[in-house]
Amino acid sequence: MNGVDAVSAVLDLRDVTVTYRTAEGPLPAVRGVDLTVRPGEVVGLAGESGCGKSTLVGTVLRLQPASATVEGEVLVLGQDVQSISWGKLRALRWAGASIVFQGALHSLNPVQRIGAQIAEPIRLHEPELSRQAVDVRVEELLEQVGLAASRKRSYPHQLSGGQRQRVMIAMALACRPQLVVADEPTTALDVMVQAQILDLLKDLVRDLGVGLLIISHDLSVLADICDRVVVMYAGRIVESGRANEVFTDPLHPYTKALSGAFPRIGDPAARYAPAGLAGDPPDPRDLPPGCSFAPRCPLAVPECTVAEPPLVEVGPGRPVACIRVGES
Ligand SMILES: Nc1ncnc2c1ncn2[C@@H]1O[C@H](COP(=O)(O)OP(=O)(O)OP(=O)(O)O)[C@@H](O)[C@H]1O
Ligand SMILES: [Mg+2]
Repeated sequence: MNGVDAVSAVLDLRDVTVTYRTAEGPLPAVRGVDLTVRPGEVVGLAGESGCGKSTLVGTVLRLQPASATVEGEVLVLGQDVQSISWGKLRALRWAGASIVFQGALHSLNPVQRIGAQIAEPIRLHEPELSRQAVDVRVEELLEQVGLAASRKRSYPHQLSGGQRQRVMIAMALACRPQLVVADEPTTALDVMVQAQILDLLKDLVRDLGVGLLIISHDLSVLADICDRVVVMYAGRIVESGRANEVFTDPLHPYTKALSGAFPRIGDPAARYAPAGLAGDPPDPRDLPPGCSFAPRCPLAVPECTVAEPPLVEVGPGRPVACIRVGES
């Protein structure tokens, strides 16, 4: 990526690797990931449980646990968050970039009114604002996320799951960041509410011109609202491209499974089990030789176990890591 692009990207991950120290040895959760999000762009990150999505999210505001080593560059609004001072990092959190964490629905303070919770980051980052100005901002934010301004006086238990998730989104937008990262923002919600929240996120991103990185198990969810989609498997990107192309014409056998392009075998009731895929992703501490997906891949040939396939552009803006591309 050249200098001009680097400035226009609100998030630019360059060859990011994250390794956890564990009692059983080093656990490489993310391996050599490159990913960019530009202003007003919605990028989706998909992949099965344990493929490293939340680990990647943690690096964006240097919130990874102390047991994690991060290599590569994590540029947020052009600043390398892994190496900048604490002061600069604090300034970047909420105001430059904000994260809606996985499971955040349950992280609201139960004994504080939601208006006060939304006001907290605003007070912290814009101490010069009067009480009244903060109050006006809180009411505007609530209305932006489709809640009545009077909801500011509610306690979390007085809200539905969908309404609480709207509050989390209002909080994420409170200091007008240029990048929002939402980790599984709708997983705990029923399907109707899921669609409403995703539409809301998409509309807000378009209206406000912020970049959105949205993480989900469910590729079909991402296909609807994203401009681009990135698919991860065992810590690596295996395919990316324009969302509609990746979903309608998946090239990597893993993406095909995620998008349901393979006939479904196994338990049809298993919500997050990719169609037609037996087995589980590998333990990152004990990756199989060659392609990490080979042991589960219906197209695998002996050559697949020789070396990990590099990400290769097989079409404009379509990098795929598979030596069997085009052979399905
Ligand atoms: N603090 C930690 N210490 C050690 N290993 C961890 C830690 N957090 C995550 N891992 C491991 O890192 C790998 C990636 O986990 P991560 O939570 O990033 O996956 P994920 O894609 O977000 O999964 P999910 O869809 O279930 O949220 C997994 O093997 C997980 O067990
Ligand atoms: Mg996760």
